[in-house]
Amino acid sequence: MKMQCGKCHGESGRGDGPAAGTMTDVWGQPILPRDLTKPHHSKIATNVIDIYRIFTTGMDGTPMPSYMDVLSDEERWHLANYVLSLQRNDEYYNGRVPEE
Ligand code: HEC
Repeated sequence: MKMQCGKCHGESGRGDGPAAGTMTDVWGQPILPRDLTKPHHSKIATNVIDIYRIFTTGMDGTPMPSYMDVLSDEERWHLANYVLSLQRNDEYYNGRVPEE
């Protein structure tokens, strides 16, 4: 909430924040914030190391910013573990294949 991830990713991380649907990448193509509760929607971040790296570097060419200057190393690891916990609640990890 403090970092306002929800503006893009939505309050519960489902990719439905108020800014979703308004963003473009550096090539001017529409781009959606990722649904953080669906690991199979992830381009990169399905383990804690990759998630941490995204918070450190951001994703160049996309609206996903770097948090290196605003969150400490420890805070980025905590946040990475939190995002991983959102993914792990997905039905994919309970042995069921999602319908979509
Ligand atoms: C300005 C809007 C915006 C904000 C703020 C933002 N994100 Fe993102 N985020 C995006 C977009 C857009 C993408 C998708 C980039 C892509 O498709 O290449 C993304 C991608 C990600 C990914 C990578 C998913 C993958 O595909 O592997 C993670 C994890 C993530 N965001 C978490 C967060 C967290 C946690 C915060 C807050 C600390 C945050 N984001 C803040 C827009 C945002």
